[in-house]
Amino acid sequence: MVQGVDLAGSFTLSGSSRSVNRMGYGAMQLAGRDGNKLVWGPPRDVDGAIAVLREAVASGVNHIDTSDFYGPHVTNQIIRKALAPYPADLVIVTKVSCRRGDDGSWIPAMSREELTGAVRDNLCNLGLDVLDVVNLRSMFSVHQPAEGSIEAPLTVLAELRQRGLIRHIGLSNVTPAQIAEAQRIVPIVCVQNHYNLAHRADDALIADLAREGIAYVPFFPLGGFTPLQSGTLSEAASQLDATPMQVALAWLLQRSPNILVIPGTSSLTHLRENLRAATLQIPAEVLADLDAVSRQDAAVSTARHS
Ligand SMILES: NC(=O)c1ccc[n+]([C@@H]2O[C@H](COP(=O)([O-])OP(=O)(O)OC[C@H]3O[C@@H](n4cnc5c(N)ncnc54)[C@H](OP(=O)(O)O)[C@@H]3O)[C@@H](O)[C@H]2O)c1
Repeated sequence: MVQGVDLAGSFTLSGSSRSVNRMGYGAMQLAGRDGNKLVWGPPRDVDGAIAVLREAVASGVNHIDTSDFYGPHVTNQIIRKALAPYPADLVIVTKVSCRRGDDGSWIPAMSREELTGAVRDNLCNLGLDVLDVVNLRSMFSVHQPAEGSIEAPLTVLAELRQRGLIRHIGLSNVTPAQIAEAQRIVPIVCVQNHYNLAHRADDALIADLAREGIAYVPFFPLGGFTPLQSGTLSEAASQLDATPMQVALAWLLQRSPNILVIPGTSSLTHLRENLRAATLQIPAEVLADLDAVSRQDAAVSTARHS
């Protein structure tokens, strides 16, 4: 177990007294897989999944990201089994606006009935009376942020917050215009978009959110279903006596103080490795090399498409 390690300092959610360590944990990898259906059904090793969650929390992780559409329902049920009754300082962040088709697809579910049902399902499967943070995941495009008004679904979540079922609201897979629209409806404490060493479309947005005290929580911090691979990253890792994944996480933590990381893993070995990344300091010259990775990737991608 990784014990006595500072998990990259803490961040206080805006407008609240809730603080979380900046090194958190993403629970999506705890669901299973059925052929082409990803994040589907129970994991092969339920006890192993429970052990990962318990060790994460015992090591000081107090920010867990989840959703009832992982499994569906399976991941939340495993979290409850592993961790309830929950430690007082644990912040569980879930997300709504999607349901799973029988073929494993991710289907928008942003109507009043669907969102209200999703909040009830999350409460029930997690065994909670109130959800700490609920992210509205924009579904105008499943794969990347796309413009469209989120006023109607967000108003439903704001009403559920008024009724005491939700403490804080965040957003996921959103554009700056959608964040601005949301802030006119309800306070936003966090934004969860796709971002990592090689995928840096949100560079300017992260700085804007930092100025407003809003957490930025990158999903796919390690590349998600296609783990990050880069010669520069491997080189940096060998220079720092670390693994490439540790360097990718440390880079995010050094990138901006409002970044909270939620690497996903179903492996105790990877969990320990990821937690240790919280103490890795990347020197300025190596950071400069790593900053070039996204430009190299962009150049390769432009060359491919030209
Ligand atoms: N808002 C959204 O739309 C959205 C979308 C996707 C994800 N998320 C959230 O973001 C969290 C993080 O994303 P993610 O889990 O999809 O992707 P990720 O953290 O970028 O990468 C997870 C992958 O990396 C592997 N891995 C983890 N640690 C490793 C290590 N030290 N060495 C080598 N491989 C390692 C995992 O496999 P092993 O299990 O074998 O370690 C898994 O295949 C999710 O858990 C979920 O909570 C949100």
